[in-house]
Amino acid sequence: MFATRLTVTRNCYTFSSNVKNFVIVLRTAICSIELFIFSLAFSESVETRVNDGLIVGNRDYYQGKSVDEYLGIPFAQPPVENLRFKSPQKPDPWTVLETQKKKPLCAQPDVNISCWGLPQSEDCLYVDVYTASENYETDAKPVLVWIHGGSFTGDWHPDWYTGKYLCPTADVVLVVVNYRLGALGFLSLQDNVIAGNMGVRDQNMALEWVHDNIGKFGGDPDNVTIFGQSAGAISVKFQANSPMSGTRENPLFKRVAVVSGQMMTWNPEPLEVAQSFAQHTRCLTDFNISSRRFLDCLKTKTTEELVAASDRENIAKFLWTPVIDGEFLLDSPTKENMGKPGPFGSLRPFPNVYNRRNRDGSCKH
Ligand SMILES: *[C@@H]1O[C@H](CO)[C@@H](O)[C@H](O)[C@H]1NC(C)=O
Ligand SMILES: *[C@@H]1O[C@H](CO)[C@@H](O)[C@H](O)[C@H]1NC(C)=O
Ligand SMILES: *[C@@H]1O[C@H](CO)[C@@H](O)[C@H](O)[C@H]1NC(C)=O
Repeated sequence: MFATRLTVTRNCYTFSSNVKNFVIVLRTAICSIELFIFSLAFSESVETRVNDGLIVGNRDYYQGKSVDEYLGIPFAQPPVENLRFKSPQKPDPWTVLETQKKKPLCAQPDVNISCWGLPQSEDCLYVDVYTASENYETDAKPVLVWIHGGSFTGDWHPDWYTGKYLCPTADVVLVVVNYRLGALGFLSLQDNVIAGNMGVRDQNMALEWVHDNIGKFGGDPDNVTIFGQSAGAISVKFQANSPMSGTRENPLFKRVAVVSGQMMTWNPEPLEVAQSFAQHTRCLTDFNISSRRFLDCLKTKTTEELVAASDRENIAKFLWTPVIDGEFLLDSPTKENMGKPGPFGSLRPFPNVYNRRNRDGSCKH
Protein backbone atom coordinates (compact mmCIF):
# COMPACT_ATOMS: atom_id res chain seq x y z
CA MET A 1 0.00 0.00 0.00
CA PHE A 2 2.75 2.43 0.91
CA ALA A 3 4.70 1.47 -2.18
CA THR A 4 1.76 2.33 -4.47
CA ARG A 5 1.31 5.72 -2.89
CA LEU A 6 5.00 6.40 -3.20
CA THR A 7 4.78 5.88 -6.98
CA VAL A 8 1.92 8.35 -7.22
CA THR A 9 3.88 10.89 -5.24
CA ARG A 10 6.92 10.54 -7.47
CA ASN A 11 4.68 11.30 -10.46
CA CYS A 12 3.70 14.53 -8.73
CA TYR A 13 7.21 15.83 -8.95
CA THR A 14 7.37 14.99 -12.64
CA PHE A 15 4.20 16.91 -13.31
CA SER A 16 5.02 19.91 -11.18
CA SER A 17 8.34 20.38 -12.90
CA ASN A 18 6.50 20.70 -16.19
CA VAL A 19 3.64 23.09 -15.47
CA LYS A 20 2.21 24.22 -18.80
CA ASN A 21 -1.51 24.64 -18.43
CA PHE A 22 -4.36 24.75 -16.02
CA VAL A 23 -4.91 21.00 -16.06
CA ILE A 24 -1.39 20.39 -14.95
CA VAL A 25 -1.62 23.08 -12.30
CA LEU A 26 -4.78 21.44 -11.04
CA ARG A 27 -3.15 18.05 -11.08
CA THR A 28 -0.23 19.45 -9.17
CA ALA A 29 -2.59 20.84 -6.57
CA ILE A 30 -4.30 17.49 -6.22
CA CYS A 31 -0.95 15.80 -6.03
CA SER A 32 0.19 18.22 -3.33
CA ILE A 33 -2.82 17.34 -1.26
CA GLU A 34 -2.03 13.70 -1.82
CA LEU A 35 1.59 14.34 -0.84
CA PHE A 36 0.34 16.02 2.33
CA ILE A 37 -1.91 13.07 3.18
CA PHE A 38 0.92 10.75 2.31
CA SER A 39 3.27 12.47 4.76
CA LEU A 40 0.55 12.42 7.39
CA ALA A 41 0.23 8.68 6.88
CA PHE A 42 3.93 8.39 7.56
CA SER A 43 4.15 10.72 10.52
CA GLU A 44 1.54 9.04 12.65
CA SER A 45 2.62 10.23 16.07
CA VAL A 46 2.59 8.21 19.26
CA GLU A 47 3.33 9.24 22.80
CA THR A 48 4.19 7.86 26.20
CA ARG A 49 5.00 9.30 29.59
CA VAL A 50 8.41 8.38 31.00
CA ASN A 51 9.51 9.39 34.50
CA ASP A 52 10.90 12.73 33.30
CA GLY A 53 7.94 13.78 31.14
CA LEU A 54 5.85 13.16 28.05
CA ILE A 55 7.58 12.17 24.81
CA VAL A 56 6.19 12.16 21.28
CA GLY A 57 7.53 9.66 18.74
CA ASN A 58 6.61 8.20 15.34
CA ARG A 59 4.76 5.08 14.37
CA ASP A 60 6.26 3.24 11.42
CA TYR A 61 5.40 -0.07 9.77
CA TYR A 62 7.36 -3.03 8.55
CA GLN A 63 5.82 -6.14 6.99
CA GLY A 64 2.42 -5.01 8.13
CA LYS A 65 3.45 -4.66 11.76
CA SER A 66 3.89 -1.43 13.64
CA VAL A 67 7.07 -0.17 15.25
CA ASP A 68 7.05 2.94 17.42
CA GLU A 69 10.24 4.99 17.43
CA TYR A 70 11.28 7.46 20.10
CA LEU A 71 14.58 8.99 19.06
CA GLY A 72 16.82 11.10 21.26
CA ILE A 73 15.37 10.68 24.75
CA PRO A 74 17.68 12.33 27.31
CA PHE A 75 18.87 9.95 30.04
CA ALA A 76 21.34 12.49 31.49
CA GLN A 77 22.01 16.20 31.40
CA PRO A 78 24.10 17.41 28.45
CA PRO A 79 27.71 16.85 29.63
CA VAL A 80 28.85 20.32 28.61
CA GLU A 81 30.38 23.37 30.30
CA ASN A 82 30.62 22.59 34.02
CA LEU A 83 29.65 18.97 33.40
CA ARG A 84 32.46 18.37 30.88
CA PHE A 85 34.62 15.45 32.14
CA LYS A 86 32.16 14.83 34.98
CA SER A 87 30.11 11.72 35.71
CA PRO A 88 26.67 11.91 34.11
CA GLN A 89 23.92 13.70 36.05
CA LYS A 90 20.21 12.85 35.90
CA PRO A 91 18.30 15.01 33.43
CA ASP A 92 15.92 17.81 34.37
CA PRO A 93 12.25 16.93 33.88
CA TRP A 94 10.29 18.35 30.95
CA THR A 95 6.63 18.78 30.03
CA VAL A 96 6.48 17.57 26.42
CA LEU A 97 9.47 16.55 24.32
CA GLU A 98 9.53 15.78 20.58
CA THR A 99 11.52 12.57 20.13
CA GLN A 100 11.14 12.07 16.41
CA LYS A 101 14.66 12.73 15.17
CA LYS A 102 18.02 11.17 15.95
CA LYS A 103 20.41 13.34 17.91
CA PRO A 104 23.97 13.95 16.69
CA LEU A 105 26.61 11.30 17.37
CA CYS A 106 28.90 11.83 20.35
CA ALA A 107 31.87 14.06 19.44
CA GLN A 108 34.56 12.02 17.65
CA PRO A 109 37.17 12.34 14.91
CA ASP A 110 35.58 12.57 11.48
CA VAL A 111 37.18 9.45 10.04
CA ASN A 112 36.19 8.48 6.58
CA ILE A 113 34.48 5.17 7.21
CA SER A 114 30.74 5.32 7.53
CA CYS A 115 30.09 8.26 9.83
CA TRP A 116 31.80 10.80 7.65
CA GLY A 117 30.13 14.19 7.69
CA LEU A 118 27.35 13.18 10.11
CA PRO A 119 26.46 15.75 12.76
CA GLN A 120 28.17 15.25 16.11
CA SER A 121 28.13 17.02 19.43
CA GLU A 122 29.24 16.84 23.05
CA ASP A 123 25.53 17.05 23.90
CA CYS A 124 24.85 13.41 23.08
CA LEU A 125 23.54 11.54 26.13
CA TYR A 126 20.37 10.19 24.57
CA VAL A 127 18.80 6.80 23.98
CA ASP A 128 16.67 5.73 21.03
CA VAL A 129 13.81 3.37 21.83
CA TYR A 130 11.99 1.19 19.28
CA THR A 131 9.04 -0.87 20.39
CA ALA A 132 6.86 -3.47 18.74
CA SER A 133 4.24 -3.00 21.45
CA GLU A 134 0.81 -1.70 20.50
CA ASN A 135 -0.36 -1.63 24.09
CA TYR A 136 2.30 -0.22 26.38
CA GLU A 137 0.20 -0.67 29.49
CA THR A 138 -0.36 -4.39 29.24
CA ASP A 139 2.59 -5.68 27.20
CA ALA A 140 5.83 -6.88 28.81
CA LYS A 141 8.05 -7.70 25.86
CA PRO A 142 11.70 -8.73 26.15
CA VAL A 143 14.12 -5.80 25.96
CA LEU A 144 17.43 -5.61 24.09
CA VAL A 145 19.91 -2.83 24.84
CA TRP A 146 22.60 -2.19 22.23
CA ILE A 147 26.00 -0.67 23.05
CA HIS A 148 27.90 0.29 19.90
CA GLY A 149 31.56 -0.40 19.15
CA GLY A 150 34.24 1.84 17.66
CA SER A 151 37.34 1.44 19.89
CA PHE A 152 35.78 3.69 22.58
CA THR A 153 36.66 6.62 20.32
CA GLY A 154 34.11 6.45 17.49
CA ASP A 155 30.73 5.19 16.39
CA TRP A 156 29.15 3.77 13.26
CA HIS A 157 26.42 5.01 11.02
CA PRO A 158 23.22 5.44 13.07
CA ASP A 159 21.19 3.75 10.33
CA TRP A 160 23.00 0.51 11.12
CA TYR A 161 21.47 0.40 14.56
CA THR A 162 17.77 0.69 14.18
CA GLY A 163 14.92 -1.32 15.60
CA LYS A 164 12.79 -0.59 12.56
CA TYR A 165 13.09 -4.15 11.24
CA LEU A 166 14.24 -6.04 14.33
CA CYS A 167 11.42 -5.03 16.66
CA PRO A 168 8.40 -5.94 14.54
CA THR A 169 9.97 -9.21 13.36
CA ALA A 170 11.38 -10.34 16.72
CA ASP A 171 8.58 -8.78 18.80
CA VAL A 172 10.96 -6.99 21.17
CA VAL A 173 11.82 -3.54 22.48
CA LEU A 174 15.24 -2.22 21.41
CA VAL A 175 17.19 0.55 23.13
CA VAL A 176 20.26 2.08 21.45
CA VAL A 177 22.65 3.76 23.89
CA ASN A 178 25.04 6.65 23.26
CA TYR A 179 28.02 7.37 25.46
CA ARG A 180 30.94 9.81 25.54
CA LEU A 181 33.98 8.78 23.51
CA GLY A 182 37.74 9.35 23.48
CA ALA A 183 39.14 11.79 26.04
CA LEU A 184 35.67 13.23 26.69
CA GLY A 185 34.57 9.80 27.88
CA PHE A 186 37.73 8.31 29.32
CA LEU A 187 40.27 10.92 30.46
CA SER A 188 41.22 10.18 34.07
CA LEU A 189 43.37 12.04 36.60
CA GLN A 190 42.68 9.33 39.18
CA ASP A 191 41.12 11.90 41.51
CA ASN A 192 37.79 13.60 42.13
CA VAL A 193 38.45 16.36 39.61
CA ILE A 194 38.45 14.03 36.60
CA ALA A 195 37.72 10.55 37.93
CA GLY A 196 37.48 8.85 34.52
CA ASN A 197 35.03 6.22 33.27
CA MET A 198 32.58 8.90 32.11
CA GLY A 199 31.72 6.85 29.01
CA VAL A 200 30.92 3.62 30.85
CA ARG A 201 29.08 5.54 33.56
CA ASP A 202 26.98 7.08 30.78
CA GLN A 203 26.14 3.56 29.63
CA ASN A 204 25.34 2.58 33.21
CA MET A 205 23.02 5.55 33.67
CA ALA A 206 21.30 4.57 30.41
CA LEU A 207 20.82 1.04 31.79
CA GLU A 208 19.32 2.52 34.94
CA TRP A 209 17.02 4.59 32.74
CA VAL A 210 15.96 1.42 30.89
CA HIS A 211 15.28 -0.37 34.16
CA ASP A 212 13.14 2.52 35.42
CA ASN A 213 11.33 3.51 32.22
CA ILE A 214 11.11 0.67 29.72
CA GLY A 215 7.78 -0.50 31.13
CA LYS A 216 6.33 2.69 29.62
CA PHE A 217 7.06 1.27 26.14
CA GLY A 218 5.56 -2.17 26.67
CA GLY A 219 8.97 -3.60 27.67
CA ASP A 220 9.64 -5.90 30.60
CA PRO A 221 12.19 -4.31 32.98
CA ASP A 222 12.87 -7.79 34.38
CA ASN A 223 13.75 -9.20 30.98
CA VAL A 224 16.58 -6.98 29.76
CA THR A 225 19.50 -8.32 27.71
CA ILE A 226 22.45 -6.04 27.00
CA PHE A 227 24.54 -6.67 23.91
CA GLY A 228 27.29 -4.95 21.99
CA GLN A 229 30.02 -5.41 19.44
CA SER A 230 33.79 -4.81 19.81
CA ALA A 231 34.24 -1.91 22.27
CA GLY A 232 30.50 -2.29 22.86
CA ALA A 233 31.03 -5.96 23.73
CA ILE A 234 33.89 -5.03 26.06
CA SER A 235 31.55 -2.47 27.62
CA VAL A 236 28.95 -5.18 28.15
CA LYS A 237 31.53 -7.20 30.09
CA PHE A 238 32.44 -4.18 32.20
CA GLN A 239 28.79 -3.45 32.95
CA ALA A 240 28.27 -7.09 33.92
CA ASN A 241 31.14 -6.84 36.41
CA SER A 242 30.45 -3.39 37.84
CA PRO A 243 28.93 -3.01 41.30
CA MET A 244 27.03 -0.09 39.77
CA SER A 245 24.88 -2.58 37.81
CA GLY A 246 22.85 -3.52 40.86
CA THR A 247 22.82 -6.52 43.08
CA ARG A 248 22.30 -10.16 42.35
CA GLU A 249 18.75 -9.83 43.65
CA ASN A 250 17.99 -6.62 41.79
CA PRO A 251 20.24 -6.26 38.73
CA LEU A 252 19.77 -3.63 36.03
CA PHE A 253 19.75 -6.39 33.40
CA LYS A 254 19.41 -10.17 33.26
CA ARG A 255 21.42 -11.40 30.29
CA VAL A 256 24.43 -10.39 28.24
CA ALA A 257 25.52 -11.09 24.67
CA VAL A 258 29.05 -10.29 23.55
CA VAL A 259 29.98 -9.94 19.88
CA SER A 260 33.75 -9.69 19.31
CA GLY A 261 34.90 -8.40 22.66
CA GLN A 262 38.04 -10.47 23.09
CA MET A 263 39.46 -8.78 26.20
CA MET A 264 38.46 -6.51 29.02
CA THR A 265 40.56 -3.61 27.79
CA TRP A 266 41.33 -1.15 30.54
CA ASN A 267 43.96 1.53 31.02
CA PRO A 268 46.43 0.82 33.83
CA GLU A 269 48.36 4.10 33.23
CA PRO A 270 45.75 6.84 32.96
CA LEU A 271 48.08 9.60 34.19
CA GLU A 272 50.56 9.01 31.39
CA VAL A 273 47.79 9.29 28.85
CA ALA A 274 46.48 12.40 30.60
CA GLN A 275 49.90 14.01 30.44
CA SER A 276 50.21 13.32 26.75
CA PHE A 277 46.70 14.70 26.22
CA ALA A 278 47.68 17.77 28.26
CA GLN A 279 50.56 18.36 25.89
CA HIS A 280 48.36 18.07 22.81
CA THR A 281 45.78 20.46 24.25
CA ARG A 282 48.54 22.91 25.31
CA CYS A 283 47.36 22.61 28.90
CA LEU A 284 50.54 20.90 30.12
CA THR A 285 51.63 23.70 32.46
CA ASP A 286 48.25 23.64 34.16
CA PHE A 287 48.34 19.84 34.28
CA ASN A 288 51.69 20.10 36.07
CA ILE A 289 50.31 22.63 38.58
CA SER A 290 47.01 21.01 39.57
CA SER A 291 44.08 18.92 38.36
CA ARG A 292 41.77 21.86 38.93
CA ARG A 293 43.91 24.21 36.77
CA PHE A 294 44.10 21.53 34.10
CA LEU A 295 40.32 21.09 34.04
CA ASP A 296 39.86 24.89 33.84
CA CYS A 297 42.25 24.99 30.90
CA LEU A 298 40.42 22.13 29.14
CA LYS A 299 37.13 23.97 29.58
CA THR A 300 38.45 26.84 27.44
CA LYS A 301 38.95 24.48 24.48
CA THR A 302 36.46 23.88 21.71
CA THR A 303 35.00 20.43 21.08
CA GLU A 304 37.07 20.19 17.89
CA GLU A 305 40.29 20.99 19.77
CA LEU A 306 39.61 18.34 22.40
CA VAL A 307 38.65 15.73 19.82
CA ALA A 308 41.77 16.48 17.76
CA ALA A 309 44.03 16.20 20.83
CA SER A 310 42.23 13.01 21.90
CA ASP A 311 42.80 11.57 18.45
CA ARG A 312 46.58 11.97 18.83
CA GLU A 313 46.67 8.97 21.18
CA ASN A 314 47.19 5.60 19.58
CA ILE A 315 43.77 4.01 19.04
CA ALA A 316 45.29 0.56 18.60
CA LYS A 317 46.64 0.76 22.14
CA PHE A 318 43.15 1.27 23.54
CA LEU A 319 44.21 4.17 25.76
CA TRP A 320 40.77 5.74 26.04
CA THR A 321 39.27 2.92 28.06
CA PRO A 322 37.89 2.31 31.55
CA VAL A 323 40.19 2.81 34.55
CA ILE A 324 40.12 1.51 38.11
CA ASP A 325 38.18 4.19 39.98
CA GLY A 326 37.02 2.32 43.06
CA GLU A 327 33.38 2.72 42.12
CA PHE A 328 32.55 1.59 38.61
CA LEU A 329 35.63 -0.64 38.40
CA LEU A 330 37.08 -1.90 41.66
CA ASP A 331 40.14 -3.76 40.52
CA SER A 332 42.01 -4.75 37.38
CA PRO A 333 39.86 -7.11 35.34
CA THR A 334 42.48 -9.82 35.04
CA LYS A 335 41.67 -13.48 34.63
CA GLU A 336 42.76 -14.13 38.24
CA ASN A 337 40.61 -11.36 39.68
CA MET A 338 37.61 -12.26 37.59
CA GLY A 339 37.53 -15.79 38.93
CA LYS A 340 37.60 -15.01 42.63
CA PRO A 341 35.20 -13.35 45.03
CA GLY A 342 36.24 -10.09 46.66
CA PRO A 343 36.36 -6.99 44.51
CA PHE A 344 34.37 -8.87 41.90
CA GLY A 345 31.88 -10.15 44.41
CA SER A 346 29.22 -8.57 42.26
CA LEU A 347 30.11 -10.84 39.35
CA ARG A 348 26.97 -12.71 38.54
CA PRO A 349 26.73 -15.90 36.56
CA PHE A 350 24.74 -14.30 33.75
CA PRO A 351 23.15 -16.37 31.04
CA ASN A 352 25.30 -15.24 28.14
CA VAL A 353 26.14 -15.63 24.49
CA TYR A 354 29.72 -15.13 23.34
CA ASN A 355 30.60 -14.93 19.71
CA ARG A 356 33.04 -13.25 17.41
CA ARG A 357 32.52 -11.56 14.10
CA ASN A 358 34.80 -13.17 11.54
CA ARG A 359 38.23 -11.48 11.67
CA ASP A 360 36.94 -8.62 13.79
CA GLY A 361 39.82 -6.97 15.58
CA SER A 362 42.37 -9.18 13.87
CA CYS A 363 45.11 -7.90 11.58
CA LYS A 364 45.83 -9.39 8.20
CA HIS A 365 49.51 -9.23 7.32
C1 LIG B 1 35.51 11.17 2.71
O1 LIG B 1 34.57 10.61 1.80
C2 LIG B 1 33.76 11.58 1.19
C3 LIG B 1 32.67 10.87 0.40
O2 LIG B 1 33.11 9.67 -0.14
C4 LIG B 1 34.64 12.47 0.33
O3 LIG B 1 33.85 13.44 -0.33
C5 LIG B 1 35.65 13.17 1.22
O4 LIG B 1 36.53 13.95 0.47
C6 LIG B 1 36.43 12.16 2.04
N1 LIG B 1 37.20 12.88 3.06
C7 LIG B 1 38.44 12.59 3.41
C8 LIG B 1 39.01 13.40 4.51
O5 LIG B 1 39.08 11.68 2.90
C1 LIG C 1 12.11 -13.11 28.52
O1 LIG C 1 11.70 -13.15 27.18
C2 LIG C 1 11.94 -14.36 26.52
C3 LIG C 1 11.57 -14.19 25.07
O2 LIG C 1 10.22 -13.85 24.93
C4 LIG C 1 11.15 -15.45 27.18
O3 LIG C 1 11.45 -16.69 26.57
C5 LIG C 1 11.53 -15.51 28.65
O4 LIG C 1 10.71 -16.45 29.32
C6 LIG C 1 11.37 -14.18 29.31
N1 LIG C 1 11.93 -14.24 30.64
C7 LIG C 1 11.31 -13.76 31.71
C8 LIG C 1 12.04 -13.87 32.99
O5 LIG C 1 10.20 -13.27 31.63
C1 LIG D 1 55.63 19.30 33.20
O1 LIG D 1 56.27 18.28 33.94
C2 LIG D 1 57.08 17.41 33.17
C3 LIG D 1 57.67 16.33 34.06
O2 LIG D 1 56.78 15.92 35.04
C4 LIG D 1 58.21 18.20 32.52
O3 LIG D 1 58.96 17.35 31.70
C5 LIG D 1 57.62 19.32 31.68
O4 LIG D 1 58.66 20.14 31.20
C6 LIG D 1 56.66 20.16 32.49
N1 LIG D 1 56.05 21.05 31.52
C7 LIG D 1 55.59 22.26 31.80
C8 LIG D 1 55.07 23.06 30.65
O5 LIG D 1 55.56 22.72 32.93
